[in-house]
Amino acid sequence: MMRVAEPLKLANGVELKNRFFKSAMSETMASSMNQPNEKHIRLYHEWAKGGAGVVVTGNVMVDRNALGEPGNVVIEDERDIGMLREWARKGTENGTQLWMQLNHPGKQSPKSMSKKPVAPSAVPLGDKFRGAFNPPRALTVEEIKQLVQKFANTARLARKAGFTGVQIHGAHGYLVNQFLSPHDNQREDEYGGRLENRMKFLVEIYEEMRYAVGADYPIALKLNSSDFSRVGFTEEESIQVVEKMASLGLDLIEISGGNYEQPKMSTGTDSEVFFLDYARKLKEEVDIPVVVTGGFRSPESMESALEKNHTDMIGIARPLALEPHLPKEIMAGSNAEITTQHLTTGVKALDANIGPAVGNVYYAMQLKRIAEGKATQRHTNAWRPLLHLIATHGPHALKPKRR
Ligand SMILES: Cc1cc2nc3c(=O)[nH]c(=O)nc-3n(C[C@H](O)[C@H](O)[C@H](O)COP(=O)(O)O)c2cc1C
Repeated sequence: MMRVAEPLKLANGVELKNRFFKSAMSETMASSMNQPNEKHIRLYHEWAKGGAGVVVTGNVMVDRNALGEPGNVVIEDERDIGMLREWARKGTENGTQLWMQLNHPGKQSPKSMSKKPVAPSAVPLGDKFRGAFNPPRALTVEEIKQLVQKFANTARLARKAGFTGVQIHGAHGYLVNQFLSPHDNQREDEYGGRLENRMKFLVEIYEEMRYAVGADYPIALKLNSSDFSRVGFTEEESIQVVEKMASLGLDLIEISGGNYEQPKMSTGTDSEVFFLDYARKLKEEVDIPVVVTGGFRSPESMESALEKNHTDMIGIARPLALEPHLPKEIMAGSNAEITTQHLTTGVKALDANIGPAVGNVYYAMQLKRIAEGKATQRHTNAWRPLLHLIATHGPHALKPKRR
């Protein structure tokens, strides 16, 4: 039997039918009121048919006042419970675990979304992002407590609607990651300073969420191996966070890395699979299932990472926007390697400036095509996603690297 096809049992008894973990991809398909709709249902139905053991949703926002991008789903109350139930019903067909990713962007909320974003401290993004992002203000302790409740409340609603788990987005430079980072978090109260304090926001979210969803419900965390900056969150700190969260009862950890300023989650580190070296070290320290995401493209690299016990599951995003049935095909013996090409405008000077944001728009366009029952398009032409990005966010959107 192929390793990717082997089931995995979580400590709480929940069984994942295989090792394919469809990582979060923001669908940006919600209505102008940030409501889920038929497109989400069709897209997740395809992924459920596609065979992955776990499918994580794109980031769902816990606070209507803080969006990462237009078309994010927001869940704060029961107004969309009917549509959410249908999304969960179709998305869990075929024994699929469907986990909702919960997020707050903090200062990584673009100008087109937030006049005054919030963050642990009033530390703006780097100079080249100032055109696209307003400088943030620091959250008060009372606001922090309210946000903790918002995360827990959205998790409760996810469970009520029939999603089979949740994932806290603690990676990629968003609010939870901002609290963990000594660069972004310069608070002098109990939420800042030493790592134990910087972790407090995450720990409180986890504990309130656990209280809201119960002991038997999977709660996962997506975390950076590092922020890849001299002044950010380091690998050593990341391991300490995982140790703490594992001791509290976290069910699974997904490893990624980077932020808008250092977009390692999509460009990678030196190895083919981006964060395997870190995962290997992490697995020596903790005893919860580890998922590495970023760069898995061929069945051989997937089998080899599992065989060597460097990861427990195979996190995959972009290839599943091109081929939603990839897990099923690989388990049926297809040797297909999915290449995720670099998009280009054909103009070198322009290409140097466009960054991963254009790539993300291209993949989001493929998600919409799947949702509409159309074939995905594999090409390298950057012009359509580029123009779409400018139309949505203005010319400043070229600079920031997203997600
Ligand atoms: C269109 C798009 C949207 C994404 N949205 C999210 C998201 O909402 N949450 C998240 O944690 N990661 C998000 N990511 C990052 C992926 O989950 C993943 O970490 C990254 O693409 C690397 O994996 P891959 O090489 O298999 O694509 C997104 C990536 C893409 C391409």
